Amino acid sequence: MSEGFTLWFTGLSGAGKSTLANLAAEELRRRGHRVEILDGDEVRANLSKGLGFSKEDRDTNIRRIGWVCRLLARNGVIAISAAISPYREIRDEVRAIHDRFFEVFVKCPVPVLAERDVKGLYKKALAGEIKNFTGVSDPYEEPLKPELVVETDRESRDQSLGKLLGALEARRLIRNGVAR
Ligand code: ADX
Repeated sequence: MSEGFTLWFTGLSGAGKSTLANLAAEELRRRGHRVEILDGDEVRANLSKGLGFSKEDRDTNIRRIGWVCRLLARNGVIAISAAISPYREIRDEVRAIHDRFFEVFVKCPVPVLAERDVKGLYKKALAGEIKNFTGVSDPYEEPLKPELVVETDRESRDQSLGKLLGALEARRLIRNGVAR
């Protein structure tokens, strides 16, 4: 059985966490790993239904995701989290309950995200219609020492995915082509 670990994406809404998580999951499955994705939007519709966007609720959300990732990872699964997870302290708390944890900062400047505005949320947030919107009217604490930074305004999806797979191989979390 291959060893599990948690692959933790963090970054602003629309930066590309889910996209990269899905691309990575597809490739890792192709290589024979078992993979589960805990996606922010999906978790909030199920495991964290009813939680809002106060600091307290976000912390609860992230602790729940972290806990489930831990259970999966210690049973041989590659657990992938794709939630904003804006607070450094809580991300580090989640890191601390893991044996193997790999944090990816999915970086993209707010003006670029506001320009893309896939969900139409930045326009509303910038107009003051959504309170406490991460990166606009609510904090986002960048990771200080993430295992990897991908810059989605400068790299293609394939470049970011390539960097990620290479970094996972370099850390011996996966072997090129086969499950560890
Ligand atoms: S987290 O802060 O608790 O990690 P999470 O990733 O689960 O956030 O949810 C973020 C998603 O919720 C965003 O992609 C966006 O679609 C939606 N959302 C709605 N309101 C907000 C808000 N105030 N701040 C950030 N995201 C919001």
